Amino acid sequence: TRLAVFCSGGGSNFQALYHAIKRKKLSAEIVLCLSNRSRCGAMEFAREHKIKDVHLSEKQFPSFDAFTEAMLETLRSNEIDLILLAGYMRKVPDAVVGAFPERILNIHPALLPKFGGEGMYGLNVHAAVIASGETISGATVHLVNEEYDKGRVLMQQTVPVMPDDSAEKLAERVLACEHQLYAEALEKLLGEQEA
Ligand code: GRF
Repeated sequence: TRLAVFCSGGGSNFQALYHAIKRKKLSAEIVLCLSNRSRCGAMEFAREHKIKDVHLSEKQFPSFDAFTEAMLETLRSNEIDLILLAGYMRKVPDAVVGAFPERILNIHPALLPKFGGEGMYGLNVHAAVIASGETISGATVHLVNEEYDKGRVLMQQTVPVMPDDSAEKLAERVLACEHQLYAEALEKLLGEQEA
């Protein structure tokens, strides 16, 4: 299975997936890293590991449609089977979601459907969880559809919220959980596809 990861930042989820695929000997290979930021940590990691890195941003194109076409062409020419969003901070164009039905995954640092949707990313997810008095948080791997954070949930993992947690502390605990959850969800999905 040929995987593309979409990243915008440090790429710790991308890196965790990369190592887990090797360790678990999953029948998948990350062949493409696509990012709206050419110099982010994820793209550096891709370059270091001889994974094709493609910088694609709306700013490079005269229209959103041209950007969408370029993204579709990149996915097609690399024969991508499955797209994994991993800290990707842009919405996936509807035409791309349509071209990859049930074949785009995302990881969200909270227990969807709670604490999801526009604006719920990075530290403000964790701040909202703490502010709401939740004693449990966690991460969710879900399929991506046209509505932000609304696709079918594939797998979730909980983590405790400590009474004195800062958003940073909770973010750190959830991120560690994401790193193993994403690989487990991928393993499950690949198993389903092979079954
Ligand atoms: C983190 O907030 C993570 O919870 C979410 O995307 C952000 C960056 O992740 N999935 P990464 O380190 O770039 O994978």
